[in-house]
Amino acid sequence: MMSSRRVLSRADARAVYDRVGAWQDPQAFYEAPALDALAEQGAFEAAGTVIEIGCGTARFARRLLRTRCPPPTQYEGIDLSGTMVRLAKARLASFGPRATVRQTDGGLTFDRPDGAVDRVVATYVLDLLSRGDARTLIGEAHRLLAADGRLCLAGLTWGEGLLARAVSWGWDRLHAFRPEWVGGCRPLRMRPFLEGACWQVRHHRVVTGWGVPSEVLVAVPE
Ligand SMILES: C[S@@+](CC[C@H](N)C(=O)[O-])C[C@H]1O[C@@H](n2cnc3c(N)ncnc32)[C@H](O)[C@@H]1O
Repeated sequence: MMSSRRVLSRADARAVYDRVGAWQDPQAFYEAPALDALAEQGAFEAAGTVIEIGCGTARFARRLLRTRCPPPTQYEGIDLSGTMVRLAKARLASFGPRATVRQTDGGLTFDRPDGAVDRVVATYVLDLLSRGDARTLIGEAHRLLAADGRLCLAGLTWGEGLLARAVSWGWDRLHAFRPEWVGGCRPLRMRPFLEGACWQVRHHRVVTGWGVPSEVLVAVPE
């Protein structure tokens, strides 16, 4: 099931996340199993340059820089919410020049040369974008990634067991009614965005945290 209904505009997404601020962290209790899998499967130990789109409060970035990335790794977080950027900068301050965070207007193409990045990360971001913006993000990741680079994605998806299916359905209905109540996120299948588009999928699975299903996807450009 694919939702092609109204998604938050960039202005609305900025307003929602400026309001959510630090509450993003406790609200994201269901993300843990997906972020664990992504941290394991993303081969961050071999990454010289990491870009994260929609970095939020930089919780995942701090974990990667502390426990996975070697000291020379350069990290750049990008977000359209000024509040998130402020929180992310504070959280990553101790990493000094290794970590930078930048506010954007929500555009999903970036001023970096082709093949200049080792990891492009986006967690719980594709599921709030329009399908067109999601395709732009994936196309831009393909351009940015080095030959052995990896696209590392996690996001809400449709569950398979009875409980997970019921949770996905309820979440989807809530999104249809008031997308801002669920931070603009709705269940989405990300893998079809990569099909026929020069990607080799290295890892793909659905995990469930607190009954909420998430898709984890790691792919290399071909
Ligand atoms: C659901 S939160 C996820 C935050 C974080 N990645 C995590 O997993 O906890 C979505 C984040 O994406 C940001 N965002 C939404 N649309 C964006 C866009 N077009 N460009 C950059 N950031 C965006 C929001 O401001 C917010 O911080």
